[in-house]
Amino acid sequence: MKYELCKIADVPDSGSKIVPFFGREAHVYRRGGMLRAAANVCLHFGGPLECRGDRLVCPWHKASFDMTTGLRIDGPAPKESRLMFLSTKTEGDALFYVWGE
Ligand code: FES
Repeated sequence: MKYELCKIADVPDSGSKIVPFFGREAHVYRRGGMLRAAANVCLHFGGPLECRGDRLVCPWHKASFDMTTGLRIDGPAPKESRLMFLSTKTEGDALFYVWGE
């Protein structure tokens, strides 16, 4: 399956763009010359995430995650937890979520 997340040109050079993802949301951003997409879900109790510098931070109880590795930096999310990255590919002018291809 293939699902368009957004146009590549709409992804900002810094920060992130929140896009719809099957009734939920994902953050799409650029890191290390790559486009990344991570579910907008905190690994603690499922709160939303806000982009702050190089971190995605949950305003509920302040868990934070490294946007490059996905690893939890601090806060109450489990120590080894990491962001839920989406499998993606670029095609033409768009970024797609792909599954089973
Ligand atoms: S739900 Fe995100 S830190 Fe608690």
